[in-house]
Amino acid sequence: MRTLEELIKHGVKGRRVLVRCDLNVPLKDGQVTDDGRIRASLPVLTTLLDYGARVIVMAHLGRPKGEPDPAYSLSPVADRLAQLLGRPVEFALDTVGESARLLASGLADGELLLLENVRFNAAETSKDDETRLAFARELAALTGGDEDGGVFVEDAFGAVHRKHASVYDIATLLPNYGGNLVRAELEVLTRLTGDAERPYVVILGGSKVSDKLAVIESLLPKVDKLLVGGGMCFTFLKAQGHEIGDSLLEEDQVENCRRFLAEAADKIVLPSDVVVSAEFSADAPTDTVPATQLPAGKKGLDIGPETVAAFAAALDGAKTVFWNGPMGVFELAPFAAGTKGVAEAVAAVDGLSVVGGGDSAAAVRALGLDEASFGHISTGGGASLEYLEGKTLPGVAVLEGA
Ligand code: 3PG
Ligand code: MG
Repeated sequence: MRTLEELIKHGVKGRRVLVRCDLNVPLKDGQVTDDGRIRASLPVLTTLLDYGARVIVMAHLGRPKGEPDPAYSLSPVADRLAQLLGRPVEFALDTVGESARLLASGLADGELLLLENVRFNAAETSKDDETRLAFARELAALTGGDEDGGVFVEDAFGAVHRKHASVYDIATLLPNYGGNLVRAELEVLTRLTGDAERPYVVILGGSKVSDKLAVIESLLPKVDKLLVGGGMCFTFLKAQGHEIGDSLLEEDQVENCRRFLAEAADKIVLPSDVVVSAEFSADAPTDTVPATQLPAGKKGLDIGPETVAAFAAALDGAKTVFWNGPMGVFELAPFAAGTKGVAEAVAAVDGLSVVGGGDSAAAVRALGLDEASFGHISTGGGASLEYLEGKTLPGVAVLEGA
C-alpha cells in the first residue's frame, strides 16, 4: 500500500486529489451530533491542503435510495468540516454533475471541495461492476485524470468493507494511496488478530447476535474471556433456559448461542443482573432483577450494577481489550449506566484497549468519557468487525494490488 508520505514526496502542489472519507455521522435537526469521524479525517485533508493539493472529498451519509434526498445531504457536514478545518469548504450540489465539475475545475491550490452524498447516484452501490466503474470514471474525471496528475487517496476506513464505486473502483482508475486513518486503523486491528497479548478480553453488545456471529466464531478461540451484554445477551440467556420476559430475542440464534456456550462455557460471561422496564422512555420506571428471572411483560434494557462490577473485574489486568456494542439503550438516561460503567472499565485498562466504531464509539463521546484514555477508538463499525472476522476488505485489497 502506497502511503501519503510517498504521495507528498512526489509533489502534490496543484494536483487534484480525490480523497474518500467516511463522514457518515449522526445528524439531528440538521446538526451533526457526533463529529468523531469528521475529526478523524482532518489530518490527511490538512496535510494535502498544506502541501498545495486541490482536494476533492467523496463521502456518503446514511443509506439514501440511489437518488437525491435532502434528508441525506452532506451539507451540514460541509459546515462542520469547515469549522474543524478552519478553512473554507466548497460544497457541490451533486456528485459528478455540473456543480461538481465546475467547482472541481475551479479549485485553486490548497482549496477543498466536498461532493454531495455519493449514494445519491445509484451506481455508487451497484452490484454490477460495469455500472460502478462507469460512475467511478466520472468521479476520476473530476481530477482531470491520471495524465493531469489526478490521484486517489483512500481514507474512509469505515467504508472499506464496501465494494462501492468511490471506495473500490476509483482505486483501479487512478494511482492510489492509503491515507493515514486507514493505515492507523489496520495497524491497531492487526494486533487483535495475530498474537494478541494476554489476557485478551472481548466485550460485545448491541442488539443482535446475528450481527456478531462471525466475529464470535473467529475471536472465541483467541480470547480468554468474552463478556456479552446489550440486547444480544437475552438470546444467550434464553439459550441457557432462562425467562427473558419481553426482551429482544433472535429465535433463530438460540441454537448458535447454545453451541457457543457448550464450546466455551469457561470463556463466555453473561450478565447476572439486568435493568428492566415495561417502557422504552427517558422517564421509565425501572427495576434491577436477576438475569435468570426476568419478569413477564418487561424488557431488559441495560446490564445491572453487579454485572458491571463482574465485567470490570474480568477486564482488570487485561493486556488486550476489544469492545464493540453498547451494553444497553445508553441514549436513554435510565439505561446508560451499564455502557458507561463498562466504558470506564475499558478506559482503565493498562494494555491495548480498542473501541470498535459505530455505536460504542458514539457512546464513549456521548457519555462524556475522555477519548484519550482509550488506546484506540475505531471509526469503523462494520469495517472493524469484518476485519476481525478475517474477511477481505475490498477497499483495502485494491490498494494492495489484490
Ligand atoms: C458505517 O456507518 O458503518 C459506514 O459509514 C458504512 O456505512 P454503511 O454501513 O451504510 O455502508
Ligand atoms: Mg453502519
